[in-house]
Amino acid sequence: MTKEFDVIVIGGGPGGYIAAIRAAQLGKSVACIDEWKNDKGGPALGGTCTNVGCIPSKALLQSSEHYDHALNHFAEHGITTSNVKMDVSQMTARKDNVVKQNNDGVLYLFKKNKVSFFHGRGSFVKSVEGKYEIAVAGSEAQTLLGHHIIIATGSSARSMPGAPFDEETILSNDGALKIKAVPAKLGLIGAGVIGLEMGSVWRRLGSEVTILEGLPTFLGAADEQIAKEAHKIFVKQGLKIELGVKVGEITKSKKGVSVSYTTSSGQTEIAIFDKLIISIGRVPNTLGLNTESVGLKLDERGAVVVDQDCKTHLPNVWAIGDVVRGPMLAHKAEEEGVAVAERIAGQHGHVNFNTIPWVIYTSPEIAWVGQTEQQLKASGRAYKAGTFPFLANGRARAMGDTTGMVKFLADAVTDEILGVHIIGPVASELIAESVVAMEFKASAEDIARICHAHPSLSEATKEAALAIDKRTLNF
Ligand code: FAD
Ligand code: NAI
Repeated sequence: MTKEFDVIVIGGGPGGYIAAIRAAQLGKSVACIDEWKNDKGGPALGGTCTNVGCIPSKALLQSSEHYDHALNHFAEHGITTSNVKMDVSQMTARKDNVVKQNNDGVLYLFKKNKVSFFHGRGSFVKSVEGKYEIAVAGSEAQTLLGHHIIIATGSSARSMPGAPFDEETILSNDGALKIKAVPAKLGLIGAGVIGLEMGSVWRRLGSEVTILEGLPTFLGAADEQIAKEAHKIFVKQGLKIELGVKVGEITKSKKGVSVSYTTSSGQTEIAIFDKLIISIGRVPNTLGLNTESVGLKLDERGAVVVDQDCKTHLPNVWAIGDVVRGPMLAHKAEEEGVAVAERIAGQHGHVNFNTIPWVIYTSPEIAWVGQTEQQLKASGRAYKAGTFPFLANGRARAMGDTTGMVKFLADAVTDEILGVHIIGPVASELIAESVVAMEFKASAEDIARICHAHPSLSEATKEAALAIDKRTLNF
């Protein structure tokens, strides 16, 4: 018998599972279909983020940072260590355990919220009197009927022509998180978020890391001043970053993989790596959804076409997260999931695309919200800028981590905060204050007048707000 649901969510990543939970909280009968399998063939809910993205990458970043501290920073605290070693298999086992805890967490949340979970691939069959028939191909094949469909099928790594991922030598994010031993020479194509995070992990563990970036500028999406500072720091740490290169042939050999490329000055080079990670962006997952059966519109990248509210052109069919336009971030997918569930329930869900924070979990971390200085210049908006270095922050000195700064950008007339950019310790956590401030349309003066605990890194945020008016107190 066909089971019928108010809402069927296809995809159980951060977009899909959060949408399913919110819809269930609002009294809807909800099914979520997800095909991800763990090593034993069982379900592994949480999507890219949990299995091969946010969570495992942060676990490896944490382990490799501990190792780096033990090797390079303990001595200054008077801690003597000898024979410090990294057991990569233990690091990986810990990472796998963290992933499993998160997979199990989502399953538990589905039970708690009475979301019906189907393990398998979901695809459209046809529309029937305003409802949609969805096939589930899995161990127990079946057909479901849904009044509303939320597509949350996420994205996959983009490969280079002629160099398919084998996940042994030529790696996507998946293989990059499963490297079994420290490669002597690691190559990465793309100096974006994955390139910098994964490059940092293996650099800390002893690899010689080279990142080949196609664009002439480094981290073009970040504020230029912050990106320049980051470039300087990463190069000093030992990452070899080649900008403006054109990657040519990639060939596998017994020794590893060779990459021919033309440098920005026009020279042809051949680099030989033990492993090569390709991190040049991601493509939306729409293959296998049988979108043609219902005439769902896709754009030229294969993304589902939606409006601001995540509505497709088909009645009651919605799409969220990496499979639609906008930044490919877990928290953006989650917010869209909540908003769509609330719209289905007749509420007014809303996502403010201007206040979605970005974080790069390198050391130092880079985080920002709102507009960059170059965007403000290009738009002609009159603004004031203020920066405060962690070098002048007491907590940062006590922690022994004084790299970087906080930068505020505010409207020249109204003082409204337009952007906040941080490079420094725990920038990922510090940025939250500025996100809240921007959501409430706060002025720089508002932050400057709020009492911040001493000694804390957050005082650097207050001081950067004071710097807008050239009245820092500690610098
Ligand atoms: P996904 O997480 O991709 O989930 C989609 C799910 O749908 C998957 O489980 C997939 O198997 C399933 N699926 C697909 N098609 C079907 C089908 N037809 N039937 C059934 N199931 C299907 N973002 C951050 O915000 N912070 C980070 O620190 C961060 N780190 C990252 C690190 C890496 C290495 C990578 C690759 C990404 C990272 N991201 C990070 C991005 C983040 O993972 C994505 O933005 C997020 O996972 C998107 O969520 P989603 O729900 O749209 O899709
Ligand atoms: P990215 O878009 O961040 O970076 C890709 C980089 O590759 C760009 O700098 C681009 O110019 C470069 N590039 C593209 N084609 C190239 C080519 N042919 N040769 C050389 N360079 C080329 O994509 P990435 O790193 O693959 O990550 C994918 C997405 O996953 C990110 O955009 C982000 O949304 C998400 N992510 C988020 C993280 C976070 O929030 N901390 C961490 C990791 C990933």
